[in-house]
Amino acid sequence: MTTVTIERLGQQGDGVAPGPLFVPLTLPGEIVSGTLEGDALVDISIEAPSSDRVKAPCSHFRSCGGCQLQHASDDLVAAWKRDLVVTALAVHGIETEVHPTITSPEKSRRRATFAARRTKKGAMVGFHARKSDAIIPVPNCILVTDGLAGVAPLAEALAVAGASRKAALSVTVTEGLEGLDVAVAGGKPLDGPLRIVLAGLCEAHRLARLTWDDELIGMRVPPAQAIGNASVVPPPGGFLQATQHGQETLTALVQKIVGGAKSVADLFAGCGTFALPLAEKAEVLAVEGASDMIAALDAGWRQAQGLKRVRTEARDLFRRPLLPDELARFDAVVLDPPRAGAAVQIAELAKAKPPIIAHVSCNPQTFARDAATLQDAGYVLEWVQPVDQFRWSAHVELVGSFRLAHTR
Ligand SMILES: C[S@@+](CC[C@H](N)C(=O)[O-])C[C@H]1O[C@@H](n2cnc3c(N)ncnc32)[C@H](O)[C@@H]1O
Repeated sequence: MTTVTIERLGQQGDGVAPGPLFVPLTLPGEIVSGTLEGDALVDISIEAPSSDRVKAPCSHFRSCGGCQLQHASDDLVAAWKRDLVVTALAVHGIETEVHPTITSPEKSRRRATFAARRTKKGAMVGFHARKSDAIIPVPNCILVTDGLAGVAPLAEALAVAGASRKAALSVTVTEGLEGLDVAVAGGKPLDGPLRIVLAGLCEAHRLARLTWDDELIGMRVPPAQAIGNASVVPPPGGFLQATQHGQETLTALVQKIVGGAKSVADLFAGCGTFALPLAEKAEVLAVEGASDMIAALDAGWRQAQGLKRVRTEARDLFRRPLLPDELARFDAVVLDPPRAGAAVQIAELAKAKPPIIAHVSCNPQTFARDAATLQDAGYVLEWVQPVDQFRWSAHVELVGSFRLAHTR
């Protein structure tokens, strides 16, 4: 038996003791005993709990791998996520005002991927267990919207109809204005009879759309999402902010940074989360790598009322970033790259020097690296706002406000 004191939370939300030793489901300051297994302590008992330890609000928390931090108070999680941002910036010597984390409420995740496996008696649906392939049913999940929480009967029927005995289906469900948009991966190859059964399930469960390994099975009604005053139909599985609350929070922050800019470039634009609301006041160029997403954005803009011009371009910004002569006419640039960040595009922004940059990121490390490039080019990072759309997980997102020093 080994006894240790937890010093901090690691990047994945595990407690970390000197060594380092990783101790799942523990909190800083706790004294815990357990059995050494490599660099982990297992079969632990908590000798002295933290005052921030709380009873997990979900009864499945111990087994389900969907959440990592339900044993910690909301205040501790919010402060830890803010600290992840402060620490990542400190690595590059950047000091700025980092606001308290804004967290999406319970039951607000509008997209989730459920696992569904055929069994001898029918099917099993849920999330994967912690560090295992086992499926844990999660009736009354408090992470996702009520619409998503009720998806088990549909996912069971999909597995019975089209899962092989060997592999679980991955059933991605997105809630939109018109109901559920369901994209299934990992199922049996489509044939005529399976297609008929699946089309029947799409009808019976009143789904907006059902796709099977990227093939459209049925669309009762376009699965639209509200983006500002527009309504957009994303391609199946296309990127969407994880919660409506997160989308609105990020959009308000981006609008605040961009202010009265008349001409804005939105890079890594997705289906227009920022471009379409910004077009209420500014002309926008939206650039995105996925051509189906840019087509969805363009269609949403064309049928919306009262928006200024939005031009779109499908372009790989890692290989072909916007260059200084293309960036010269914008008063402000918004960018929201994937986890890898946007080193190549940021290098061009550092040369082009648009007066204002609103940088949204899902990775504090790559954000801090790219922020250092902008700082060296004469930008001031005025403030950073951490945003937590992935409640009870180890993820954090953020928005940073950059302004060229001489334009302040
Ligand atoms: C974090 S998402 C943000 C999307 C959008 N701003 C939003 O909020 O909904 C990142 C986007 O970058 C796009 N992307 C990834 N790699 C890219 C690349 N090399 N060039 C252009 N876009 C890329 C993805 O398709 C995705 O839409």
